[in-house]
Amino acid sequence: MAKSSLPVPSDGGCTLRKEPRTSSSPRYSKRNSKRSTRHDPYQRIAEEESGYKADQSSSLAQQRLLFHASSNGSRNGSAFKDPAFGENKILPVHRWVPWIAGFSASFVDSVCAAYLHPGNQGARRLVLDPFAGVGTTLLQAVLNGHDAIGFEINPYPSLAATAKIQTVRINLEQFDAWIDETRRSGKVWRSVAPPKRISAPNLKTRIPFLSPRVERQVLHALDFFSSIPDERIATLFRLALGSIIVSVSNYTYEPSLGSRPGAGKPLIEDADVLAVLLHKLHQMRTDIAWLREKVKENETNTVGAGRVVNANFLTANEQLDTASVDLMITSPPYMNNYHYVRNTRPQLYWLSFISSPEQQRTLETGNFGKYWQTVRDGQDIELNFEHRDLERTLKQLRETRKGAGAYGGPGWANYVTAYFNDSYRFLAILKRVLKRKGAGVIVIGNSIIQGMEIKVDKILGEVAVQQGFKLEGIPCIRDKRVGASITQSSVRRGLRTNATLYESAVIIQKP
Ligand SMILES: C[S@@+](CC[C@H](N)C(=O)[O-])C[C@H]1O[C@@H](n2cnc3c(N)ncnc32)[C@H](O)[C@@H]1O
Repeated sequence: MAKSSLPVPSDGGCTLRKEPRTSSSPRYSKRNSKRSTRHDPYQRIAEEESGYKADQSSSLAQQRLLFHASSNGSRNGSAFKDPAFGENKILPVHRWVPWIAGFSASFVDSVCAAYLHPGNQGARRLVLDPFAGVGTTLLQAVLNGHDAIGFEINPYPSLAATAKIQTVRINLEQFDAWIDETRRSGKVWRSVAPPKRISAPNLKTRIPFLSPRVERQVLHALDFFSSIPDERIATLFRLALGSIIVSVSNYTYEPSLGSRPGAGKPLIEDADVLAVLLHKLHQMRTDIAWLREKVKENETNTVGAGRVVNANFLTANEQLDTASVDLMITSPPYMNNYHYVRNTRPQLYWLSFISSPEQQRTLETGNFGKYWQTVRDGQDIELNFEHRDLERTLKQLRETRKGAGAYGGPGWANYVTAYFNDSYRFLAILKRVLKRKGAGVIVIGNSIIQGMEIKVDKILGEVAVQQGFKLEGIPCIRDKRVGASITQSSVRRGLRTNATLYESAVIIQKP
């Protein structure tokens, strides 16, 4: 288990323990980092293509960590690296699809290193991520030589996670040939009407999602992709389109999806979709080639086997044998945070994962913790387990702004109850699938609902103990969390509390 003693946050919240830097901390002198960067063409390419200029010292450290797991040099005083997705924006493969509340690669490496021997120095281990997102846990686990399985309810991030873990098995020559074919076929996308066999999906938006000139090119692209017979290559092409479609649309991520005029940006009447798509495909190609070289160079590990199940973990977990998982690393959706389904509607509709609001609703109601919109109106939801403090909080919440009904305390109490009922189910399943002595690391944040702070981490830890887990600790890993979709709304501003949003890791072990 974790080697350091792990502090449980007090009721005062989450305070980081700053550790003095040592010579082994991942920090490089400016002179050294400059010299290293000049000899590191990958970093230059990554920065140019992502438009993201990383702090050189940290990005160098992170690139090293991509393949060499290490639990040293934590910058947050816990045993682990910073979990925030930021560094992934410049890391090969991880940079393909940015994901709100996604992990950083080095966080996953540090957790694997703390709990598992490198894959090939002993029996192969199975790592589980029940809420896999775009697959950060899965990719890092397989690169560290472990087997990995992830569940992801939303087909779009599931596609991304699948593409990433297949990367080392892609036939690059074939991928190149299809990129060339795209370039050839794409010459007429702007001038010729798309074939009648393909039509725009029924995505309802306030203003047209794509302008007519852009739409015809996207339809051509989709029609062209349907001719790619190799499943893995077709997956990469579909992902490439999914990752760029909003950038050529009249919508924008801010970070929630909204219209460009609403964000003070002009409409996009026309765009060269082929050029944007080819740019993305080349980025993917560069990353795949780079990763394969790195894998070849790595003499200690062979890549593990990875699998993504596009399904609700709470209902599809029977695909996992009892006592089969060595380590779980995950980050479930945070309470009242990002609306993953709404924000991926363009990809869900345009990549034909869903075609109607009913299918969208099914995804929303299956989402861990539900969404406030799906539970606010119904009967009072009961808590399915005992927890005195939480019951008291829920009672108080139900009384807050009662007159506002679904929009006041009653609606929000339903939401918080549904969230913890799912948490309880999740922990019960985890108890079944973890091996004895197997560990679980759950990265989660607190929430502020109708002015009341809900310490989700603390409650999860207590519920885990109720279920028979040993609570190893709840180290604080980020004492300030920003960028949530509705941080500025009155719901999140904390009307009666001075609490700020933080993030911690709930670390549990099956005895
Ligand atoms: C915080 S994100 C995980 C990000 C991930 N750690 C990464 O680095 O990409 C939570 C994910 O859980 C997924 N999810 C929500 N409910 C789920 C469920 N019932 N089963 C499986 N996945 C679910 C969401 O679609 C979202 O992608």
